[in-house]
Amino acid sequence: MITFQIDNHTVQAKAGWTVLETARHYGFEIPTLCHHEAVTPSGACRLCMVELRDGDWSKLVASCIYPVAEGINVHTDTERIRNVRRWILEMLLSECPASKQIQDLAARYGLKQTRFAIENPDEECMLCGLCTRVCEEVVGLAAISTVDRGVHKKVGAPFLRPTEVCVACGCCVTICPTNAMQSRIDAVRRVPATAVTAPTSK
Ligand code: SF4
Ligand code: SF4
Ligand code: FES
Repeated sequence: MITFQIDNHTVQAKAGWTVLETARHYGFEIPTLCHHEAVTPSGACRLCMVELRDGDWSKLVASCIYPVAEGINVHTDTERIRNVRRWILEMLLSECPASKQIQDLAARYGLKQTRFAIENPDEECMLCGLCTRVCEEVVGLAAISTVDRGVHKKVGAPFLRPTEVCVACGCCVTICPTNAMQSRIDAVRRVPATAVTAPTSK
């Protein structure tokens, strides 16, 4: 077992665990957006930042991809971390301003609006990649991916046309942290959601 400190409490983790895994195991709250235990972590959103301190020295690391190590001193809720999270959420408010989930999370950090330019007021997707990872790693299909580049980058089926590869399992909708996949899924499946009949019980 590896012993270290989180918020001045001694904790123990198995080798290979991340700081986030350990923190959640012990009930410390760290906000995440691009992380889900079912899929490979990507470290994309940086919202899960924590501060590692050693005397006067400190650095910020993404807890969902940072492996535990003997004797590290982790802080999950310092002023420096809160500033970074506010900055990230302000950027997300400009990138996916229509997401109620992002608005609610930003409000928890005292943010109601963003200083950054809003390109598309209807955008909900933060391009976290959870939907594509769950489709590929859990469902085993890779029916969706990121399409296009730069500011035009979006999630969808190849050429943004409906695909028979999608089996309409809904895993991508369930895992999406911003609700964006809900409105995209009909464009991915051949069969619109309204035409799918729920299975009848025997
Ligand atoms: S649709 Fe949802 S899960 Fe997929 S990239 Fe966008 S925000 Fe992430
Ligand atoms: S609903 Fe389709 S795109 Fe979404 S995870 Fe399932 S197979 Fe993949
Ligand atoms: S949750 Fe760790 S980087 Fe997104």
